[in-house]
Amino acid sequence: MPEKKSGTGPSNRVMTLFVCFLAALAGLLFGLDIGVIAGALPFIAKDFDVTAHQQEWIVSSMMFGAAIGAIGSGWMSSSLGRKKSLMSGAILFVIGSLLSASAANPEMLIVARVVLGLAVGIASFTAPLYLSEIASEKIRGSMISLYQLMITIGILGAYLSDTYFSFTGAWRWMLGVITIPAMLLLIGVCFLPNSPRWLAAKGNFRDAQRVLDRLRDTSQQAKEELDEIRESLKVKQSGWSLFKDNGNFRRAVFLGVLLQVMQQFTGMNVIMYYAPKIFEIAGFANTTQQMWGTVIVGLINVLATFIAIGLVDRWGRKPTLILGFLVMAAGMGVLGTLLHIGIDSQQMQYFAIGMLLMFIVGFAMSAGPLIWVLCSEIQPLKGRDFGITVSTTTNWLANMIVGATFLTMLNTLGNANTFWVYGALNLFFIVLTLMLIPETKNISLEHIERNLMSGKKLRDIGSR
Ligand code: BGC
Repeated sequence: MPEKKSGTGPSNRVMTLFVCFLAALAGLLFGLDIGVIAGALPFIAKDFDVTAHQQEWIVSSMMFGAAIGAIGSGWMSSSLGRKKSLMSGAILFVIGSLLSASAANPEMLIVARVVLGLAVGIASFTAPLYLSEIASEKIRGSMISLYQLMITIGILGAYLSDTYFSFTGAWRWMLGVITIPAMLLLIGVCFLPNSPRWLAAKGNFRDAQRVLDRLRDTSQQAKEELDEIRESLKVKQSGWSLFKDNGNFRRAVFLGVLLQVMQQFTGMNVIMYYAPKIFEIAGFANTTQQMWGTVIVGLINVLATFIAIGLVDRWGRKPTLILGFLVMAAGMGVLGTLLHIGIDSQQMQYFAIGMLLMFIVGFAMSAGPLIWVLCSEIQPLKGRDFGITVSTTTNWLANMIVGATFLTMLNTLGNANTFWVYGALNLFFIVLTLMLIPETKNISLEHIERNLMSGKKLRDIGSR
């Protein structure tokens, strides 16, 4: 019997893409706020005459806010829904950007950055979750990678805008322009539908069906998906009580934590936050060179994310991750070796930068997007908010640790050893990927859940 069509297939696909694009705008804000501070900090430091310690606070207050935001958004997105959660994130983005641009003293700026952090925490929790619940299994990986692409475009945009405003030292403009995309996100979010999985979890099956009808090619597909969702809602417990009583769910939470620790300990943010410093270590003394070098880092990060978007639903998550860790290990390892030998010619300088860029390619094509993809796929529906809260909070705490220990590592271990440590960690992550990480390509979230809850090995929960 031919399948009954609901609406026209292609137009539903365009609708899904549009919805995903709007949700992914949250990633742009995430990236802008990560990237903006590097270029603004020297001018803020001069204007306010702040100590090094205060500067550290100006930078890390955002990550602190993000960890709190991620913790709170688990509750928020389950009680108010993913859409309203994203909306409150967008409002906080607007308030935080305005407050930081108009801060009268360092204390106010720190408070403003905590508000921005709350927004980033909410966005980094809700957007991938929402995307995983909206997209069909065939394009789920690429859609969540689209979110990562937006993060990288945000970082690059911030580097470029910092460079533009740096000629006049207008740090208030650097921080203030972010209000514009924040407003756009706020407007965009108003047009998003609620997540069908959240609607169903709230017992609202009729609306869930309606949303799925608009997003899937045929009403048969929509109906089958809703049946699967209904099935996974039969688990009675949720969140914390599920965590306490169900060992299978605890394994998924553990996997989420591990994945985010792995992402952060690749060492990516060492480069995001300290790129100019690394250029200096590699022998580029001139600030203009360091600034443009940083912009190139941002650009490569964007471009290489397209590799992930192309590979994730074809090659799958695991091979892409393994290749990425290998490239990152090589980048960090060779960079460490060059620093050990001593970089004393121009060729060596360029070779060192090549290695740094190779590392960025490795991250952007693998761990950058794929960790977010996997974290939003492995949790069972009833524990999804709890599980992703824990993994996203881990992302921010690990991010803070990496950012706060890099300079100390350079001082105590030395430059070469510091990079070697990160190289070795990336090699170790290949072993962990082989042993523990599942392949989730082309499998529905409900199928993954059935495998997990029936006690299959973690690395097998994506098998048919
Ligand atoms: C990470 C961030 C990182 C960014 C770089 C994200 O996936 O979570 O910590 O700064 O990628 O592109």
